[in-house]
Amino acid sequence: MSRKKSQFVDVIGAVARNRPVLIFISCLVNLLLLTTTIYMLQIYDRVLSSGSMDTLIWLTVISLGAIAIYGVLEQSRRLILSRSASFIDDQLNAPVLLRSMEKRLSGGEPDAGVSDVADLRNYYQSDASLAFLDAPWSIVFLGFVWLLHPTLGTIATVAALFLLVSTVVNDLLTRTRQREAAARLKAANQTAVRFVDGGETISPLGMAPAIFSRWRELHGRARAEQQILTEKTATILSYTRSFRLAVQVLILGTGAYLVLSAAITPGAMIAASIITSRALAPIDRLTAAWRRFVAARSARRNLERMFEGLETAPERVKLPRPEGVLSVESVSFMAPEGNAPILRNVSFTLESSGTCCAVIGASGAGKSTLCRLLVGAWKPASGHVRLDGADVHDWDAAELGPHIGYLPQIVELFPGSVAENISRFGALDGDAVVRAAKMAGVHEMVLHLPKGYETDVGPHADRISLGQRQRIGLARALYGDPAFVVLDEPNSNLDGAGDTALLDALRQLKKQQKTVVVVSHRAEILKATDKILVLQDGVVAKFGDRDDVLKPVERAVRKTAVAPERVQRVIPASDAPKQAASVRQHNKMTSTAAE
Ligand SMILES: Nc1ncnc2c1ncn2[C@@H]1O[C@H](COP(=O)(O)OP(=O)(O)OP(=O)(O)O)[C@@H](O)[C@H]1O
Ligand SMILES: [Mg+2]
Repeated sequence: MSRKKSQFVDVIGAVARNRPVLIFISCLVNLLLLTTTIYMLQIYDRVLSSGSMDTLIWLTVISLGAIAIYGVLEQSRRLILSRSASFIDDQLNAPVLLRSMEKRLSGGEPDAGVSDVADLRNYYQSDASLAFLDAPWSIVFLGFVWLLHPTLGTIATVAALFLLVSTVVNDLLTRTRQREAAARLKAANQTAVRFVDGGETISPLGMAPAIFSRWRELHGRARAEQQILTEKTATILSYTRSFRLAVQVLILGTGAYLVLSAAITPGAMIAASIITSRALAPIDRLTAAWRRFVAARSARRNLERMFEGLETAPERVKLPRPEGVLSVESVSFMAPEGNAPILRNVSFTLESSGTCCAVIGASGAGKSTLCRLLVGAWKPASGHVRLDGADVHDWDAAELGPHIGYLPQIVELFPGSVAENISRFGALDGDAVVRAAKMAGVHEMVLHLPKGYETDVGPHADRISLGQRQRIGLARALYGDPAFVVLDEPNSNLDGAGDTALLDALRQLKKQQKTVVVVSHRAEILKATDKILVLQDGVVAKFGDRDDVLKPVERAVRKTAVAPERVQRVIPASDAPKQAASVRQHNKMTSTAAE
């Protein structure tokens, strides 16, 4: 983890190390920008008055040389900045995504996102950083005009101050409205995407006209606001352009008057006009640059917050491959926004690898929560989940991953091919993919997909049915010989063939001495297990060998004269009170027996 913290500091540090070179190059660039002005001054005041061809040739050669050097330097400072921008992008995007995912998993909102990386990158990629590097030279240029004549200097300085104040005031007055309008437009666009994605519901229910007229209203309001602001900015921009031209006329007019009064030379008059426009140019750029700078500064703060504290996490010891001995020690879990714990003091042990344990319990009892804790997706508020004695959170997630097989209740496949999804997007090992697919009983089905293992799947790949997704998800869980497999309702969408394949997979896992935890209420699955854990309202109501747990429950169910087909789901989700009663009855029976 300390790697991550230093990675952020390294990135910012590496970019900052370029700063002295950039400042130096910018000094040279701005000095060389004076070439044409000095050239003109010399032509007017030396060549034209003396008629010396030699001077003209030398002046021209030197000026062309200076302009060539200017070109090279300007290109190099732009190159440094654009390389810094892509460096930031390359180095920060993946860690930021990873950190965001970790934060979401622990129930929090990430402090920063890839848009912050984009803001930071844009600052370097755009003209903004150049505007800041060039801005101090406005003062130098104004000083130059002062040297030519104080009256001209005064006009140029007043003009620069006026431009600066008016652009800053305009920015301050419109900034909040601009931000609000941009946010409103973004929200409208996001809504549009959701409407388009929801076509399956919107179209058959005839909701389209109403939904889209609502969107038009949303979008129209945001757009109108933006239009007003854009027009306002355009007006101000035209006024400032005219103002700058007017300043040039004033400088030339005053210069001509000074030439006539023999206070300055004609060359100085032209030079003053050019340098004044150079001095005023960065002021326009500064306002846009300031906005980007503010965005980049807040992005940097967000990113700092995101990576803060990571340096205190200890380096992880490399652990050997686990055998699959699972021990859950007094695990409690509290949902981030919840006020009551979802799981309380859950303890159980699967002592030998090759044990298959079923988790049963009513809907909302906490079975999926337990699965997430077992595979280390969530961290318990207290207690430990240990694999071969080591807490799953002491492992580096990338190292533990290959030893874990996890099929969540809601199977998510990610954009990519079936083969990539099964192989967890790692290096493609065709044999291992087919082995996992065969073990999950999905090989034949995949071969019948339009492009077999190369078929593209993902959140919107409609050709993959829910049952197919679940079976591909099972193959992904079994891929790479994991030592510990957790399957959360693996047969909720399966047909008869899928059920048989799942049972086969469970038998093979047993043969291979893999530890398995499976959430399922199906009688056939339960028959294939060794242990059963009954969860009730977040606590372990019963844990033990399958028959010890099941028989009393079945007897209790029989006693309440439930139709035999309902025993399929040993403890049906809708029968939570009955289940509680039967478990209470069972507990009573066991405690009576103990007495
Ligand atoms: N992120 C969360 N924030 C708040 N509450 C949560 C969160 N996740 C789960 N819960 C709550 O925890 C309880 C247990 O949820 P869980 O998904 O573990 O139940 P389950 O036993 O798997 O149910 P089912 O059989 O319906 O899948 C539920 O009451 C649920 O509302
Ligand atoms: Mg569940």
